[in-house]
Amino acid sequence: MREVDAIVAEALAVFAGIDDADRLEQAKARYLGKSGALTGLLKGLGKLPAVERPAFGSRINAAKEQLETALREQRSRIQERKLEASLKEETLDVTLPGRGLGGGGLHPVTRTMDRIEALFRSMGFEVADGPEIETDYYNFTALNSPENHPARSMQDTFYLADGKHLLRTHTSPIQIRYLESHRPPVRIIAPGRVFRVDAVDATHSPMFHQIEGLWVDEHVTFAGLKGVLIEFLGKFFERDDLRVRFRPSFFPFTEPSAEIDMSFGEGWLEMGGAGMVHPNVLANVNINSEKYQGFAFGLGPDRLAMLRYGVNDLRLFFENDLRFLKQFN
Ligand code: FA5
Repeated sequence: MREVDAIVAEALAVFAGIDDADRLEQAKARYLGKSGALTGLLKGLGKLPAVERPAFGSRINAAKEQLETALREQRSRIQERKLEASLKEETLDVTLPGRGLGGGGLHPVTRTMDRIEALFRSMGFEVADGPEIETDYYNFTALNSPENHPARSMQDTFYLADGKHLLRTHTSPIQIRYLESHRPPVRIIAPGRVFRVDAVDATHSPMFHQIEGLWVDEHVTFAGLKGVLIEFLGKFFERDDLRVRFRPSFFPFTEPSAEIDMSFGEGWLEMGGAGMVHPNVLANVNINSEKYQGFAFGLGPDRLAMLRYGVNDLRLFFENDLRFLKQFN
């Protein structure tokens, strides 16, 4: 009997110290299995005197039951601990808001265009539009560009296969389209995409944006043009210490013409072209240039965005790297 007590005591201690389900079953086999310690005692039953057998037998059965109970309890303890550990590891906070699909955002150039539109609207300009695929007439001829003007060459312009249509190289054709259907006074801006066979670098892209401006009325002056542009740039950059330069230039459709530069790093960056609408252009849309004058400008919003956001390479805007674009939202 003492041997049974010793085995039971040992088994209970072993079971209690095990925290792994597999190892617990292995330990069970050592005591209750075919060649286990208790089973071994049971096999010796036959050698006992007949009178002692029943008592010994029931003692062993009781011991077996005791161990089975201990095993069951230990099994569920192990199970519970496992559950607790995994709950701790995989915390799930059902009160957290859902992840959603992630909000999109406006492209920095779109933001810039919207901002430019809003500022010009506040100065009394309306917004006009025109097609990206143009005819030679609107893009060049009506704008007083002579037949041999270099911009007309295949090297500078994307022509369509029909040889008659092209991707507009600037937003200036909208001047003509608008003046064909509206009489002065006219005060519009026209934003849009334009295309040129330009070598790509930090300030040039083959697709870029322009904002055309046109004001035609009696008594419109070059001083007025300067005033509008300087007022606009001050509001756009929210600064009154801007370094802006009007540099004499040439465009077939304006006379006199100027290029507008802004201080950029060590030097200057060209932001747009401008000038007084050429009398030939007004004549092409049947406006009497003795009575009416106009000024026009074409700004580069991609470059305005560069300066405003401190981006030193315009190509970043068109590579569509979300890590870059997300910074503007
Ligand atoms: C023109 O396109 C004229 N149509 C502007 C104009 C309108 C003059 C009305 C007079 C009256 P220009 O080629 O300089 O001009 O281009 C205007 C602006 O577009 C440039 O100053 C520059 O800011 C921007 N730009 C030109 N080429 C590129 C390019 N490849 N990538 C990015 N921006 C460009």
